[in-house]
Amino acid sequence: MVSVAIHCVLVIIFSLSIIKVNCYICHGTSQYGRCSTNGACGCFDMIGSDNTGICAFLWVSCSQLKLCNSSTNICDKLGDICVQHPRCNSHSVCYPSSMIDERICPALPNVSTTTTTTTTTTTTTTTTIQHLGWGKTGSMNNGRFGHAASVLADGKVIITGGAQSFGTFYSVNLNDVEIYDPSTESWTTANNMSYPRNAHTSITLKNGKLLIIGGISNTNVLNSTELYDPETKTWSFTGNLNTNRNYHTSSLLTDGRVLVSGGANPLSIIRSELYDPQTQIWTMTGAMNFPRQSHQASLLSNGRILISGGYGEGYYLNNSELYDPQTGKWTITGSMKHPRSDHTSTVLPNGKVLITGGHDEKNNLNSAELYDPNTELWTTVQNMKYERKKHTATLLTNGKVLVTGGQNGPMLNTVELYDPTSDNWITIDNMNYERGYHTASILKNGKVLIVGGYSEIALNTAELY
Ligand SMILES: *[C@@H]1O[C@H](CO)[C@@H](O)[C@H](O)[C@H]1NC(C)=O
Ligand SMILES: *[C@@H]1O[C@H](CO)[C@@H](O)[C@H](O)[C@H]1NC(C)=O
Ligand SMILES: *[C@@H]1O[C@H](CO)[C@@H](O)[C@H](O)[C@H]1NC(C)=O
Ligand SMILES: *[C@@H]1O[C@H](CO)[C@@H](O)[C@H](O)[C@H]1NC(C)=O
Ligand SMILES: *[C@@H]1O[C@H](CO)[C@@H](O)[C@H](O)[C@H]1NC(C)=O
Repeated sequence: MVSVAIHCVLVIIFSLSIIKVNCYICHGTSQYGRCSTNGACGCFDMIGSDNTGICAFLWVSCSQLKLCNSSTNICDKLGDICVQHPRCNSHSVCYPSSMIDERICPALPNVSTTTTTTTTTTTTTTTTIQHLGWGKTGSMNNGRFGHAASVLADGKVIITGGAQSFGTFYSVNLNDVEIYDPSTESWTTANNMSYPRNAHTSITLKNGKLLIIGGISNTNVLNSTELYDPETKTWSFTGNLNTNRNYHTSSLLTDGRVLVSGGANPLSIIRSELYDPQTQIWTMTGAMNFPRQSHQASLLSNGRILISGGYGEGYYLNNSELYDPQTGKWTITGSMKHPRSDHTSTVLPNGKVLITGGHDEKNNLNSAELYDPNTELWTTVQNMKYERKKHTATLLTNGKVLVTGGQNGPMLNTVELYDPTSDNWITIDNMNYERGYHTASILKNGKVLIVGGYSEIALNTAELY
């Protein structure tokens, strides 16, 4: 079957509102047939057209879709498109513009871009904005957010699990695994984990294996952990956590053990535990001073682990704690100026720790703070330009910190760079896609790989800085 897609830009201007829909028209593809690099998209036949459809996200539940006007086959809402949807009781339904967006359903590489259809009352020029510094790279098979990303010993990036939707549509957590090869900029599928997981963590151990910890499956918070061997490409179980948890942190200690702290099930957890790769056993270690979830952890150059903020028992935390692997105990260290959760924590080349953004009970934050392990004090640094949570912060090889995306109401595509020597933030070129709940991994070649995330739906796109 020949599958040709035509790039279409529908621009509808009505009163003062502009609705712009970037979508792909699929020709000669069967109903629900593959039309996008995102496997969650399919071709929906349009009403009254022969063999022509629109490439759209497949998994919008029928109850979310309004019926088209039965006599005119027109949708009330501007930008929505009337399509055939036999799975929804064979009714014709209005597909929302956000679900036919090219950013969600990018065209398959083998696509001939032939026409630009402009339905408009005035002439509109569509300019292609070039995002300097951001290169698109291969897309994953599945869209996902809340996944985990780790760099393996051979430099490849392994992405595990994540969610395909927030409750509005089908809520699906994933068990699948995709591996990015920086030399070919392409993705391959690896064997599935035993459990679907979201809000889990992954750590590359010193022996080269990948440890997956906890998270939430489609039904419950997990205590199971799994080990991936990149040599044999197989998964095995490796003991259970003593406490089921998600939204925890995990840190590789200098001696090769793994510290897991806090998390939720569903209340915030105070306990922490250690994994020993030699014995493959999880044992309890000291409890923190505060229960917390959605906090952050960083390994300091003195071998201790710094935990900051998070959500405690009914309020957001401004305090931070240090774990000493020698004694297995936690001590309270300086307090941040601002309580925050879903922030980032990055160790700078000078050993200080940069905390950015996050949120408290009212607001998303643009503030940033610096922890000095010598004085155990926090100082405020210059604010970022944008408030954000569920963003990423990555230390670059030039010592600067790259902050990408996140959420402040809608998802963001804005990017900022922190320079520790001048304590300055500069805004640099936007990413190609708005995204939050994504991951960022620094590659061995110094580039940063941004993967997936959420923006109306789960994204399968990746880009390189
Ligand atoms: C369908 O469209 C026609 C023509 O615009 C209109 O008269 C009719 O009220 C619409 N029906 C519904 C159910 O909206
Ligand atoms: C698209 O795919 C078909 C069949 O695989 C191939 O014959 C054709 O050359 C491809 N077109 C482009 C533009 O790559
Ligand atoms: C992984 O699991 C999914 C569904 O749970 C299944 O569709 C897929 O074929 C599996 N992939 C592999 C490589 O086993
Ligand atoms: C692991 O979690 C399951 C499900 O919550 C529970 O039934 C089981 O007892 C737990 N195992 C351990 C070792 O805690
Ligand atoms: C941290 O929060 C506590 C409790 O809300 C508050 O009493 C304390 O003053 C805060 N500390 C700083 C440094 O803001």
